[in-house]
Amino acid sequence: MTELRFPEGFVWGAATAAYQIEGAVAEDGRAPSIWDTFSRTPGKVFQGHTGDVACDHYHRYAEDVALMADLGLRAYRFSVAWPRIRPDGTGPVNPRGLDFYDRLVDALLDRGIDPIVTLYHWDLPQALENQGGWTARETAEHFADYALAVHQRLGDRVRTWTTLNEPWCSAYLGYGNGVHAPGGRDAGAAFRAVHHLLLGHGLAARALRAAGAEVVGITLNLADVQPADAGSAADAAAVRLVDGLQNRIFLDPLTGAGYPDDVLAHVARIVEPDFVRDGDEKVIAAPLDLLGLNYYAPTYVAGRAGGAGSSAYPGTEGGVEFLPPVGPLTDMGWMIEPAGLTRLLERVAADYPGLPLIITENGGAFPDRNTEGTGWVADTDRVAYLDGHLRAAHEAVARGVDLRGYLVWSLLDNFEWAEGYRKRFGIVHVDYLTQRRTPKESARWYQEVISRNGL
Ligand code: FCB
Repeated sequence: MTELRFPEGFVWGAATAAYQIEGAVAEDGRAPSIWDTFSRTPGKVFQGHTGDVACDHYHRYAEDVALMADLGLRAYRFSVAWPRIRPDGTGPVNPRGLDFYDRLVDALLDRGIDPIVTLYHWDLPQALENQGGWTARETAEHFADYALAVHQRLGDRVRTWTTLNEPWCSAYLGYGNGVHAPGGRDAGAAFRAVHHLLLGHGLAARALRAAGAEVVGITLNLADVQPADAGSAADAAAVRLVDGLQNRIFLDPLTGAGYPDDVLAHVARIVEPDFVRDGDEKVIAAPLDLLGLNYYAPTYVAGRAGGAGSSAYPGTEGGVEFLPPVGPLTDMGWMIEPAGLTRLLERVAADYPGLPLIITENGGAFPDRNTEGTGWVADTDRVAYLDGHLRAAHEAVARGVDLRGYLVWSLLDNFEWAEGYRKRFGIVHVDYLTQRRTPKESARWYQEVISRNGL
């Protein structure tokens, strides 16, 4: 196969999130988040798993950073836990919470690894949820205050700031279909949450910029939405609806175009959008330096009267059919289609020009074919997944997309939300009984990719 080189300066890294790896949920002043509450609620997370210990990264961060250095990572995307910094969401800043990230950032910089901070990866302080969470407008303001508190401590060393991770999940899975914390099931609340998340992003982006942040961005899980039948008008309408609910509802206001009319009309059939106030769209349109994209799998839809739709896409029930994924699948049951990544990158670059892109997450859950005692974890499936998606990303670059980097999900096996620990996404294996880390075959493969800046 021909050699593929990525542009010079291409950022190679890995990603994690606080609740998924840190553990230490009651240490140094941290208060519960919605995920602590949710994971303790019977029936919400696989076998009642919680993030109480997770990968114990809070105590083992130095070892983990050494591992990153060994793999040659140039960047590390992690999230800051809001309930460590402002445990009750609004009140005094907890310096001990900030101390942890201070130490982490220093350890990264010592090894020449660029820290990429995500300010919100789903762990809302429970105290704020008690006041309405993201359905309450005030949460957006509290988020900006919290963002600023983190910047005040880390801003002298951290260049790249992303406000939110996947607001689609926070809103639609958190408040719409109940699969994620806080477990709400109310379509109107989901749209309210979308707006307040975006508003929180805008307020935080503005505050960060004013405080001197160099690169300000957001990470979205955009969907590559495809029709079941490319020639069908009904399927095209279904694509447009789903694209509106997952992509344009975020991208348009973020890039200054305001909410799309068709999306607003759809929302208005479900809830009166009185939560969108004059001036909000201007706040949401705060300048972006970087757009993070998380891509795992494509979405195929058909327009069909009586179609089951999905409660994760409010208003699709009765008119849209989400096609069951066709193999090969990952252990999450997600379809493996690297071409979807090329399509998505090209589409975003074409419709929202001038915005530098970075893949902030991509990876696959696969059961490890373990090799007990050999110190080797063979994850050939993951290597193939990553290889395919990097080729797809390279294809987009070759076609002119301004893609700046790639961060694999994930550095470590970790707490996979409602799936608990049963799904493994890491390029490094974690033995949860001993907390032993073992780089998998994919980690060694990735190390080689990084050192060659290509495949
Ligand atoms: C994304 C999340 C991330 C991880 C991957 C598999 O939606 O951002 O935390 O769970 O999926």
